[in-house]
Amino acid sequence: MEDEITKHYKNQDITVIWKPKVCIHSAVCFKGLPRVFNPKKKPWVNIEGSSTEVIIAQIDQCPSGALSYVHNSNEELEEETIKTKMEVLQNGPLLVYGTIEVKDKEGNKTLKNKTTAFCRCGHSENKPFCDGSHIKKEFVG
Ligand code: FES
Repeated sequence: MEDEITKHYKNQDITVIWKPKVCIHSAVCFKGLPRVFNPKKKPWVNIEGSSTEVIIAQIDQCPSGALSYVHNSNEELEEETIKTKMEVLQNGPLLVYGTIEVKDKEGNKTLKNKTTAFCRCGHSENKPFCDGSHIKKEFVG
């Protein structure tokens, strides 16, 4: 499962990493910083649209972890880790913050970093992870 699609957008300081399959379509990035994150444009991330500090502050608010960044000075492109924490999103997924190893029902292991959203509504096509389907299904809980 490590062959997850990722896209990279680089400026002089950081590389923004986008994982479309992890996105829960909360639109927090688009509403907060449309000069940089605009799904109507191609590419949808305009890394030159704002300063590095502003972009980092916006990425830190991404609830799913679909957006992350690394400092270009880190040769290994290691993502920053934080201590493990869990949060239930109203009418949405269970968020786990931190670095965790997830073993699926077939026994495949995936290493997740930063924020991982687990489906609570039962409608995700990418279980155990949330794929945003709870919005379409109007999940309440
Ligand atoms: S909670 Fe998001 S798809 Fe189920």
